[in-house]
Amino acid sequence: MAKAGVVFTKDNEYYTPSVFVERFGKFDYDPATTKEKAAEFGVEHFDTIETDGLKADWTPYKRIWINPPFTIKHEFFRKAVETFTKTKADIYILFPIEFITTKRFHDILGPRGGGVIYVPDGRIKFESGLGKKANSPAFGSCVMKLADISTVIMERIQL
Ligand SMILES: C[S@@+](CC[C@H](N)C(=O)[O-])C[C@H]1O[C@@H](n2cnc3c(N)ncnc32)[C@H](O)[C@@H]1O
Repeated sequence: MAKAGVVFTKDNEYYTPSVFVERFGKFDYDPATTKEKAAEFGVEHFDTIETDGLKADWTPYKRIWINPPFTIKHEFFRKAVETFTKTKADIYILFPIEFITTKRFHDILGPRGGGVIYVPDGRIKFESGLGKKANSPAFGSCVMKLADISTVIMERIQL
């Protein structure tokens, strides 16, 4: 049985609190969002489920924020790594921390890929877009900033 106050979810409509995103600065593109959330974050360019961020060209952008749909996070991560290889843009991608223990993560990043993984000292309280109460998810999340290094560095952040 689920612990009270903890959400076990695989839905794609959960949103990052803007105070959390702002810790990483301002962004000029979000490939997976809603019009409302893009406005809240002050992101000028964005894609939604209707326009499909996976089909868009990310190379014009300098600072990209991604909290990908849970079910296809690996596809967004792959596109982030491909884009970074071409442009060296500042790309930040949020995912469940468990993802970094998967072969898929390592295969996509490649042996020469790397970056900084920001690990919070608690659970981010995401906002649910499905009308449910905002709550802590049952899994921990982290944010990876891709970098031109072949190691992965962990940095702690306080919530
Ligand atoms: C986890 S939410 C994150 C929203 C926002 N970026 C944030 O940080 O709060 C992911 C969003 O991506 C949207 N989405 C799903 N598939 C998509 C696609 N192929 N292209 C763009 N957005 C998509 C979902 O509808 C959802 O609103």
